[in-house]
Amino acid sequence: MDVTFLLNGETVHVTGEAPTRTLLDWLRERRGLVGTKEGCNEGDCGACTVIVTDPQGAQALNACILFLPQLEGKAVRTVEGISGPDGALHPVQQAMIDHHGSQCGYCTPGFIASMACAHLNGATDHADQIAGNLCRCTGYAPILKAADAASTQPVPDWMEEPKLPDGREETTASEEAGVARPRSSDALARWYTDNPDATLVAGATDVGLWVTKSLRELAPIAFLNGCDDLKTIEATSTHWRVGAMVSITDLLALVREDYPTFTEMLRRYGSVQVRNAATIGGNIANGSPIGDSPPPLIALGATLHLRKGDTRRDVALEDFFLDYGKQDRAPGEFVEAITIPRGQPALRVYKLSKRFDQDISAVCGAFKLSVREGVIQEARIAFGGMAGTPKRATATEAALTGAPWSLDTITSAAEHMAEDYTPLSDMRASAPYRLRTAQNMLIRYFHDLSGSPVSVLEVAP
Ligand SMILES: Cc1cc2nc3c(=O)[nH]c(=O)nc-3n(C[C@H](O)[C@H](O)[C@H](O)COP(=O)(O)OP(=O)(O)OC[C@H]3O[C@@H](n4cnc5c(N)ncnc54)[C@H](O)[C@@H]3O)c2cc1C
Ligand code: FES
Ligand code: FES
Repeated sequence: MDVTFLLNGETVHVTGEAPTRTLLDWLRERRGLVGTKEGCNEGDCGACTVIVTDPQGAQALNACILFLPQLEGKAVRTVEGISGPDGALHPVQQAMIDHHGSQCGYCTPGFIASMACAHLNGATDHADQIAGNLCRCTGYAPILKAADAASTQPVPDWMEEPKLPDGREETTASEEAGVARPRSSDALARWYTDNPDATLVAGATDVGLWVTKSLRELAPIAFLNGCDDLKTIEATSTHWRVGAMVSITDLLALVREDYPTFTEMLRRYGSVQVRNAATIGGNIANGSPIGDSPPPLIALGATLHLRKGDTRRDVALEDFFLDYGKQDRAPGEFVEAITIPRGQPALRVYKLSKRFDQDISAVCGAFKLSVREGVIQEARIAFGGMAGTPKRATATEAALTGAPWSLDTITSAAEHMAEDYTPLSDMRASAPYRLRTAQNMLIRYFHDLSGSPVSVLEVAP
């Protein structure tokens, strides 16, 4: 396998590496660039953060779950390339010194990479920008002060990437045994029909862990990052058609105006690094019962577009999830896009997790009721974390439909959730806790739509 990208401003051609070699391992073991650290090796701690630039811009990514082929035609900047060629410090490095932002220093290169990327992009929501970087000893206040202080300083010249290398020609199995790097969904469709047992790699925020934690061999394998036509978004006044390879970061920006609580939930999806890598197609296709995007998309009535070869079909998203680990997707069939209805202001999304930032949901609930003349006309309620799949609350919806919009209706309808769900107990939450919190979310929804403050993080008069 060969890959070409820029590393700290210089073109590198990588040959002879396994397609699932991670950038972190390659930097440390092959290049001796050991500034980038390994903490968790699963995307959780940010010690391995690097800056990756493509024509769309610069992004912080976790190198531990980034495979080398995903870097084709891009520019990688590690902590070694963040100070100037003459050793001059980047403003975020100087500010970390000035504000005592480092003690043992193990996390510091990752923080520097996240902060330098945010500085480059002019982002000033510092707490969000570093939510994916864990520090065991310093505490976050000095680091946030450093990020704030650096934000007034100009971006150093050396942070500008030279011209990106041209992306390589696409390869198929015949050229590179068991590895496909298609440049379009048509090419992917042809190859995947012939290799229906292959693993597809989108953002690798799940698949990366199959390699780093489960030590799985993945072959045949296809990298979807070259399929630009899967990264497109078509917007009309009523719908968005979102390509499977659109990242969670871009989805968050897309839904911001129409759906503020969906946006707020996505702000708590993983971290900046995870959201930059993870795709909407991966978040649906993995069939996870605790994936965060399916509940709101089901409540909105989204439609999934699937493709196998030249045959396309549409499925209501709620029908895609058949059972735990089982989806309505045939061998050789892939997710091409999803259509999301717009302009439904009654949607609310609530995520419950043990930590506020960067944590998988214990329960994620999405609600959309339509009310006319005081009567509930239609109810769409979907939960993650309550069953083996993301699932609608059909008994609860039936109890609500046709009933008056009142707290009494809501409270008694919430009892029907015990018919809809038999949740599990696991390390995130017990079954009774899950059921009770899901019921409480419906009551929260009533208060929310009635205009009462419902966020425990906001001080209400
Ligand atoms: C630190 C960390 C935090 C996380 N936090 C959250 C969170 O808060 N909420 C949440 O929901 N998830 C979270 N996740 C899980 C993960 O980010 C998501 O499931 C993600 O959306 C997967 O997308 P991906 O593009 O990375 O998929 P990949 O890992 O590339 O693929 C996932 C699966 O989907 C398949 N696949 C990918 N694209 C397609 C396609 N187009 N068609 C068919 N199959 C496809 C792959 O073959 C694989 O089976 C987290 C993960 C990590 C590592
Ligand atoms: S080593 Fe922890 S996120 Fe990569
Ligand atoms: S300075 Fe020690 S972990 Fe952050």
